[in-house]
Amino acid sequence: MMMLRQILQVTTTAASFLLLSSLSSVPVSLAEEDLECGMYMAISSTSTVDETRWGIYAGKDIPNGAPLGGPDVAINIFNLQGNTQMADENEEADSLLASTVDFFEQFIWVPIPSGSQFDLEDGRTVTAIPGAGVLGGFNPKLTNADWNHSAAYFRPSLGEQPGVNHPGRGAYSNFYHVELRSKDEIPAGREIFLEYGDNWEEEAKEEDLTTEDYRKLDATVEKMANFFDKYNDELDEKAKTDIYDFLIRDVMGAAAGAGKGRKIVDLLPAYPESLPKVKESGGSLAYSQPKSIRSTAWLQNHGRCIDNIGPGASTIPHAGRGAFARRKIKEGGLVAPVPLVHLPAGSMMDMHEIGSSDDGGEEGPVYYKLSDEVQGKQLLLNYLYGHPESSMLFFPSGSVSCLINHSKEPNAKLVWSTHPGHQRHWYDMSPEELLTMETMYIGLLIEVVALRDIEEGEEIFIDYGDEWAAAWEAHVKEFETKVASGDLPKDWPIRALDLNDEFSKKAFKNPDELAMEPYPNNVMLKCFVQVTPEVIPEKIDGKPVREWVMPKDGVFDSDSLEDCTVTDYREVDNGVMSAIPYNYTVSLGRDGGATRIKDVPHRAFVFVDKPGTGDQFAQNPFRHYISIPDDVFPQGPWRDLKQS
Ligand SMILES: *[C@@H]1O[C@H](CO)[C@@H](O)[C@H](O)[C@H]1NC(C)=O
Ligand SMILES: *[C@@H]1O[C@H](CO)[C@@H](O)[C@H](O)[C@H]1NC(C)=O
Ligand SMILES: *[C@@H]1O[C@H](CO)[C@@H](O)[C@H](O)[C@H]1NC(C)=O
Repeated sequence: MMMLRQILQVTTTAASFLLLSSLSSVPVSLAEEDLECGMYMAISSTSTVDETRWGIYAGKDIPNGAPLGGPDVAINIFNLQGNTQMADENEEADSLLASTVDFFEQFIWVPIPSGSQFDLEDGRTVTAIPGAGVLGGFNPKLTNADWNHSAAYFRPSLGEQPGVNHPGRGAYSNFYHVELRSKDEIPAGREIFLEYGDNWEEEAKEEDLTTEDYRKLDATVEKMANFFDKYNDELDEKAKTDIYDFLIRDVMGAAAGAGKGRKIVDLLPAYPESLPKVKESGGSLAYSQPKSIRSTAWLQNHGRCIDNIGPGASTIPHAGRGAFARRKIKEGGLVAPVPLVHLPAGSMMDMHEIGSSDDGGEEGPVYYKLSDEVQGKQLLLNYLYGHPESSMLFFPSGSVSCLINHSKEPNAKLVWSTHPGHQRHWYDMSPEELLTMETMYIGLLIEVVALRDIEEGEEIFIDYGDEWAAAWEAHVKEFETKVASGDLPKDWPIRALDLNDEFSKKAFKNPDELAMEPYPNNVMLKCFVQVTPEVIPEKIDGKPVREWVMPKDGVFDSDSLEDCTVTDYREVDNGVMSAIPYNYTVSLGRDGGATRIKDVPHRAFVFVDKPGTGDQFAQNPFRHYISIPDDVFPQGPWRDLKQS
């Protein structure tokens, strides 16, 4: 069962920017790096004249069950609704703020794909996942990708400093390595479609053909193609057409029912000679949706490469992660396209004292702000683009581009895109006008381009702007003063992230070892539990025993994550399962539950931070947006804070 889902479905009827404009696209020079691009961003096949969207497309063939794109960071937002609504419904709501939140909610997730569902004690967390999390398309029948929950939990420790407090604590997200996996063979040129989860899928209509229908249809089409091939010389044109019509209208209509039968007739080619085309395009489903597969030439001309950069440990000391060139990028060449989700009410990042009431029924408590006083800013602010003369903010939703760090001697810079999907005329619209029916889609595209030749493996830097640099300097100074005076600790608790790194190389503790030296108080040990339905004829500690089983596709699901207590472990020769040679016996829960589970492999365990203890809860963390350079940020109504 799918648990993750995008929050709320808001149907936007946006303007028709794409269909016309993408046809008249300015040809992009075929830079060297484009030729080996593994993933593109381009207009999605799900766009219609009324609703336009970006999508991502495979640049190369991708096998089934392979990692896909990114991996990207996930940025948690605490009580997004609660921080932006008052308890008293009669109080006049800030309508721009409310519509900014509504608009943004289309692009964010429940915190499950990012492994951060335990982060907040009381309240609601939502997660912004740039890249595929925003751009991945939704088309339930063509779903070919899903989040790899294992990747988010078993994220590699990149440039972390266990146990040390530093000014960056709480200033960047500790949830990263959020990655997709393919759920099917994906040929080059195919658009990537994600599971959005149950509440989106209910939208699918009953009379639509199911994936199973398409599979059956493929088998039938193949039989028909063989039949017409075999009798090609014996049948004249009229006989062929008559038989074909009889097969697809009468026989298949009777088998599939009237509604579906009509769909099948509409979908199949008009003449039997064209039947082989169905298979060539990748089956009846793909054949019926031709735009979801694009030629490499089309993608090079109308798309933008999104995998020129990848994540790594930053070369700046104490900087955590950074973005690195995956291939050589020429001066002026594209480093990363960055579609911007415009947030006309920048006050969306303000945090307040939160209250709750139980009015939400099944959905749980309703959260709301208790006063307008601003007590802090959401972590997401550090990832957003802004400008000192504007109240607007922009969520950069490019793949990996959120990891590009600041430098005063940058090798890359931001420029507005020349892609026709970038709506230059929006520069002349006020923040209010940017959230009308006509502007409720991602219409702004900025690009990170190389200021000089960049070699493969080089870290990418842009200049975050003078206000950002001044704010960071002030923050560091204050931090150092406070550490010197003892107002802030020198040390930092060992967190789940650090422990997962440490225990990737050694056994988790049994009860005796734990009694001698417990785990830190701020973490929980969990394990992914899938078990045989039947107990086996064996008892451990006098309790019934179940056997652990590996999920079929080898990927753990966050749904099966439980508190686990190790009761015993033994060394085994377990080369295939994991590099760590241990099998564990566990009891569920923290108090020695009713059954034992045996043969839980080392790699099924993971530490998570207890709610409310992660870095994001640091005191007075650094908060500042990244500046869009003054000569790039449009003059006009966006500069609503400008002193005249
Ligand atoms: C999922 O992520 C894990 C951990 O990073 C990785 O070992 C595994 O290969 C990934 N699986 C797929 C199908 O991408
Ligand atoms: C560099 O970016 C990473 C990822 O967002 C962040 O952890 C780190 O704090 C940044 N460092 C600096 C110096 O901006
Ligand atoms: C260890 O656990 C794995 C996974 O449950 C199982 O397949 C394997 O047989 C176990 N090894 C031994 C030696 O029992």
